[in-house]
Amino acid sequence: MHFPIVRPRRLRATPTLRDMVRETQLNPQDFIYPLFAVHGEAVRRLVSSMPGVYQLSVDQLVREAEECHALGIPAVILFGVPAHKDAQGSENFSDDGIVQSAVRAIKAALPQLIVIADVCMCEYTDHGHCGVVRDGQIDNDATLEILQRAAVSYARAGADIVAPSGMMDGMVAAIRSALDEAGFATVSILSYAIKYASAFYSPFREAAEGAPKFGDRKTHQMDPANAREALRELELDIQEGADMVMVKPALPYLDIVYRVRQATHVPVAAYNVSGEYAMVKAAAANGWLDERAVVLELLTSIKRAGADLILTYHAKDAARWLAGM
Ligand code: PBG
Repeated sequence: MHFPIVRPRRLRATPTLRDMVRETQLNPQDFIYPLFAVHGEAVRRLVSSMPGVYQLSVDQLVREAEECHALGIPAVILFGVPAHKDAQGSENFSDDGIVQSAVRAIKAALPQLIVIADVCMCEYTDHGHCGVVRDGQIDNDATLEILQRAAVSYARAGADIVAPSGMMDGMVAAIRSALDEAGFATVSILSYAIKYASAFYSPFREAAEGAPKFGDRKTHQMDPANAREALRELELDIQEGADMVMVKPALPYLDIVYRVRQATHVPVAAYNVSGEYAMVKAAAANGWLDERAVVLELLTSIKRAGADLILTYHAKDAARWLAGM
């Protein structure tokens, strides 16, 4: 009953047939666009390792958010570059911090756009670590208090979703209880539940100015060799009250995206990180790859693996390409 009876090529014969049987459909609604907020007015500072990505002052961020909205992208995620860094990362939980100001301005201009605030300490601390440092170690439980204050402050500014990214144990439970106590029971948590200690974050560390000044993040981010541990992290974050979970990075971890999708009923996001973006942009700039075709193929692969949502610096371009622009 095989060839010549069965001919899979029949259903590939024309574009319309291929459209009819396509299993995975990428949409602009799948995307979340990352934005980097800096102090000042009319600031648009190119991130050299991420062509097309800028550090933006609040006035520029609003324009960028409007562009996303017009393209059908439903959400942005904000990262902040503070005016001053200190050991506690004070601007992180200051009501007039850069992200708080950006959230207020974007929500005022575009109430329908979903605004996500990343919650971590690394951009705010003078040592560049994701937690409180004591004797050269990251103090997990002392860090939770700061994450609680930051999350509540973002909620007060109007963030719809907070996204803790520091891989501290208990961060979701701590943030959930702080939000609820402060009257923000309807603010959701998108947990970076499964975040690997990856070398693909280095362009982001230029964009967010959050590279560690000593050591690395291997005592809290996951070992790239581990997959079962991802399911354990997933389980814990669901128990702690995560509304959605993220796998990060995306492309080198599509097996993890797939396993997480099989293991949970909550929405799964995948972060197509800065290094993944930089590789494509570099190859495209050299004429080695067709950027449009490669980006759409990569994003489709992330969705096919099981991601409901994709955080990606390609979001605006991909939305335009999907609309045939
Ligand atoms: C930490 C954070 C990082 C990224 C998102 N949140 C960097 C890190 O863990 O060092 C990386 C995102 C990217 O590479 O695009 N707050």
